[in-house]
Amino acid sequence: MLKFTKQSDPEIAALVGEELNRQEHNIEMIASESTAPLEVMELSGSVFTNKTLEGYPGRRFQAGSEIADKVERLAWERAKELFGAEHVNIQSYSGSTANYSVFASVLNPGDKILAMRLDQGGHLTHGSPANWVSKIYNHVFYGVDKETERIDYDALDKLAKEEKPKMIIAGASSYPRLIDYERIAKTAEEVGAYFMVDMAHIAGLVAAKVIPSPIPYADFVTSSTTKTFCSARSGMVFCKEKYAKILDKGTFPGSLGSLMFHTMAAKTWSFKYAASQEFHDIMQQVVVNAQKLAEELAGYGFRIVSGGTDNHLLVVDLRGKGITGTVFQDALDAVGITVNKNMIPFDPEKPSVTSGVRIGLTSVTQRGLKEPEIVEIASIMNQVAEAPTDEANLAACKERAEALISKFPLYPAGAFED
Ligand SMILES: Cc1ncc(COP(=O)(O)O)c(C=O)c1O
Repeated sequence: MLKFTKQSDPEIAALVGEELNRQEHNIEMIASESTAPLEVMELSGSVFTNKTLEGYPGRRFQAGSEIADKVERLAWERAKELFGAEHVNIQSYSGSTANYSVFASVLNPGDKILAMRLDQGGHLTHGSPANWVSKIYNHVFYGVDKETERIDYDALDKLAKEEKPKMIIAGASSYPRLIDYERIAKTAEEVGAYFMVDMAHIAGLVAAKVIPSPIPYADFVTSSTTKTFCSARSGMVFCKEKYAKILDKGTFPGSLGSLMFHTMAAKTWSFKYAASQEFHDIMQQVVVNAQKLAEELAGYGFRIVSGGTDNHLLVVDLRGKGITGTVFQDALDAVGITVNKNMIPFDPEKPSVTSGVRIGLTSVTQRGLKEPEIVEIASIMNQVAEAPTDEANLAACKERAEALISKFPLYPAGAFED
């Protein structure tokens, strides 16, 4: 691995080696992560990184685009077929810029957006005061019902009718349940709002048809291509044909600069791979594993937000165990299990502390972990929670975690050898 970098800059080459080693020996359970297939790694590092292009196939601003044009057209065909979409734009650099492209396409400064609260599962780019979009647009927020911890669709509908937003956004970073797109689409239609779904987290599950797709219901569907889609660090946007021109214009020149053809090539490969039986089976197992982990942790007395999960992630309320999200995140990190602290709905703690953690099952499932291993992970997590600052306990848990994950290589043996 890194044959040339090792010669010219051993320092950065060593850091890459250390990170590979960390991922190999840790149980990675950050819900927004996945393991990029080797083909995605190869294509992301391919000569397409040298090509500067702006515009669209047949309408470029630079010469030498014939081959790159073929890539973008192939990506379109594959992506539309895979997701059953009328139109796709795959120029986005990430899930965040995918959202910005849609805003640039159809909104004007001062327009109102109705989106999910950040502290109940939404995303920064949907209008958090910490994100620049909050300076441009006005935001109102819906959330979950206190009892069920599922989206309160009646309250959303009522708010939409009072506030008359120009856009309603569904989709979240830490919502473990299916979303009733049809219902939100109806509300959007009634108030004359655009309906945008941000499926950044669940795109892989949608592509594999393991959970329902928002594409038939939404005007725009945005996504990251990392997370469950398991591809390059990049983005994509789908829309109805009637918005194709406006989306493309809002993407380039509206909000992006020159294209990243190396990640576009990697996404093109992934649009083919995501249609395979292998990918389908992994995605199906991701959900089985998430549900198994929820069930096992509940058996140890952890409270699972909303009572379970329908997708790749779960949010765990730690208050019953008398620990915070920060304490649990750090203790798990010390034993080689990587998760992130996360607000639970109506969390009494500050965002820097939190009462919960978010756990994702994509990476471990890609490595081949199934129910028996998930049972073991839940047991280790419980042992950590019982004494999160006891060093002997953490050392014993680390041994268990290492013994488990060492049987499931991150990449095939020799994959990165020169
Ligand atoms: C719902 C949602 N949208 C957008 C994003 C941003 O995606 P990216 O990190 O690819 O910019 C995230 C990232 O976690 C997300 O959870």
